[in-house]
Amino acid sequence: MSGSWRLLLVLALFAASVPYWPLQPQQPVAEQDTSPWGANYFPNVPLLTQDGEKVHFFTDLISNKVVAINFIFTGCSDSCPVETARLRQVQKILGDRVGKDIFLYSISIDPYNDTPATLKRYAEKFAIGPGWTLLTGEAADIEQLRRSLGLYIEGLENGRSRDHNLSLIIGNQATGRWMKVSPFENPYILADRLGNSLHNWKQASAMTHDYAQAPAVRTPSSGEQLFRTRCSSCHTLGNAEPGQRAIGPDLLGVTRQREASWLARWLKEPDRMLADQDPLAMLLYEQYNRLAMPNLRLGDTDIRALIDYMEEETARLQTPLAAKGNQ
Ligand code: HEC
Repeated sequence: MSGSWRLLLVLALFAASVPYWPLQPQQPVAEQDTSPWGANYFPNVPLLTQDGEKVHFFTDLISNKVVAINFIFTGCSDSCPVETARLRQVQKILGDRVGKDIFLYSISIDPYNDTPATLKRYAEKFAIGPGWTLLTGEAADIEQLRRSLGLYIEGLENGRSRDHNLSLIIGNQATGRWMKVSPFENPYILADRLGNSLHNWKQASAMTHDYAQAPAVRTPSSGEQLFRTRCSSCHTLGNAEPGQRAIGPDLLGVTRQREASWLARWLKEPDRMLADQDPLAMLLYEQYNRLAMPNLRLGDTDIRALIDYMEEETARLQTPLAAKGNQ
């Protein structure tokens, strides 16, 4: 293979690995409001916020703004809480820029059941802060929105499964730069895209935290990787920041506090344990705001790796923990 072919191949592979896809047709990033996706493209449908306020999608929510939009429903027990928890981490990293120059929206795809009051309770459960609005509206309008954002999966929608497109779309309406990202993306990378690249790096210094504060790059064990990607949006492991309440309990010491078989089953099927009214599961559920831990569909190998990792961290941090009086 000649050198230039090899270069092309490398470039093609690189392009294929970039985890976002600008909407079609692809447009160069423009500074001014030259976006091809303006008022003519996005439906200006009316929606209701969790406070019952009526807003219009284009004019009130996205026009000239940097935004992150996802679709959820409050009755969803597995994927949505994971997405919501991840977005909450992003919100924390971005700090008070959320609500000022970055706006987060979660729109219900189950508007019959998700009234503003239901959404408000959901926002309270997750301690969703200002600058992040939950919305509901007419079913047909919301479907139209999902289509315009490229987040509607044909054929998946009528089934009883209520499976929905697990994506987050982030963009800058004025520049027309939109990208689909996985809600399971590292929260620092998501925050960096919202806070820096979508703002064309204009306000890079205004980030309260920056990517440099993301954990150092080394090769973590598979248990640690799983913990970071699947658990850390809801749980700390001896690293809670003072005054910050996570969604779920801190897990340092849990491998010693709980029976091994209880712990392994909990990681495998927390939903079943709640349904079976396991006393400890019920107690934790009440303690943690009646927000059920989702079934993350972990396999036995993953569960073992996670338990090993939680135990290793507990052993590593045991001395300072004992000195603190086992908080
Ligand atoms: C969307 C949030 C969320 C995610 C993601 C999540 N959990 Fe949980 N977890 C909770 C909540 C909330 C509780 C408290 C019990 C309840 O309300 O169901 C909990 C409880 C637990 C408990 C029981 C704690 C105790 O004191 O016995 C363990 C262990 C646990 N989670 C481990 C994990 C692990 C490991 C992962 C990742 C594979 C994970 N969780 C992912 C929310 C979450």
